[in-house]
Amino acid sequence: MSGTDRAAVVAGLGVWVPPGVVTNDALAQQLDTSDEWIRSRTGIGRRHIIAPGESSGDLAVEAGRRALKSAGTDHADVVVVATSTPDRPCPATAPEVASRLGLTGVGAFDVGAVCTGFVYALGVSAGLIESGFASTALVIGADTFSTILNPSDRATRAVFGDGAGAVVLRGGAPSEHGALKGLHLGSDGTRSRLIEVAAGGSRQRSTGLPPDEADTYFTMEGRAVFAEAVRHMTASVQETADRLGWATADIDKVVLHQANARILAAIAERIGVGSERFPSNIDRVGNTVAASIPLVLADANSSGELQAGQKVVLGGFGGGLSWGSVGLVWPDISTC
Ligand code: COA
Repeated sequence: MSGTDRAAVVAGLGVWVPPGVVTNDALAQQLDTSDEWIRSRTGIGRRHIIAPGESSGDLAVEAGRRALKSAGTDHADVVVVATSTPDRPCPATAPEVASRLGLTGVGAFDVGAVCTGFVYALGVSAGLIESGFASTALVIGADTFSTILNPSDRATRAVFGDGAGAVVLRGGAPSEHGALKGLHLGSDGTRSRLIEVAAGGSRQRSTGLPPDEADTYFTMEGRAVFAEAVRHMTASVQETADRLGWATADIDKVVLHQANARILAAIAERIGVGSERFPSNIDRVGNTVAASIPLVLADANSSGELQAGQKVVLGGFGGGLSWGSVGLVWPDISTC
């Protein structure tokens, strides 16, 4: 993505959500909320949730298997898993995912950038391909935020769902459909506490004291995060378009992290591109964190909303704070 004559090209796309569904009405039976509130404030109608004993790694394996099938291969030189809900705090989830896919021996590691994880993982993997280190990469976004939400927090429980999505990247030419280009990444650690799980890491554990139960759960300052998401995703998408020499009016599809339907609408208005160019599946899956972008890509590709040859910008925003975008001309692939 930096002007070399070798590019990372999207060659396959696979997704998986667990079968368990929690509707807004089901949430309203447990919490002081309603289908009307959740739909009007977020655009979400339901979300998928893993079964007891399942993990992000399980979802990653299924999405990875499907992406390899979509690409018509059973091999990748490197496996990268973007997740903030690893199977265990240590080790990384990716080596076990790789082995379960029959890829013991390949390079495998996790990327932690919360809801921007998939864009960061694409960027790192593309760099490994462009440098000649790898010929192919399996890039997976998998998260199970249902496992870290406070059961009594109606704001976060309304928003998040579980899922996984993956792409296979292969080496190719920058002029090919599917070649990733115009990568932009950013962060702002001064605002890291807007989205966090406060306990369980070295800062809390080094105190030697047991954590407050509330600190073991994910917390988010919704209003502030909303404003930051609109600001940074808008700027990042525009930055990627600039790097590619694309006028925003030339972008056929802006495929963003699905955090809130109102965030997507606000960004569409700021960029000056109609909302119909922003594919969305948030009503059916909610915010699936690192899985969000591949899941919405898969839905739009399968429905025909996304067509080969269209100019596409992918964009994410999340904890860190972190954000990023990358562009491509959509390739002719089928989703598995
Ligand atoms: N049902 C009913 N009421 C709810 C609710 C729910 N599920 N969730 C929050 N509320 C209430 C709040 O308790 C608050 O009540 P109060 O005024 O009595 O204190 C009121 O709604 C407004 O809360 P606020 O947080 O300001 O609501 P909001 O309109 O900003 O919506 C979010 C909350 C979480 C949906 C919204 O802030 C959001 O989507 N933020 C960004 C999320 C995001 O992008 N996260 C991931 C980053 S990648």
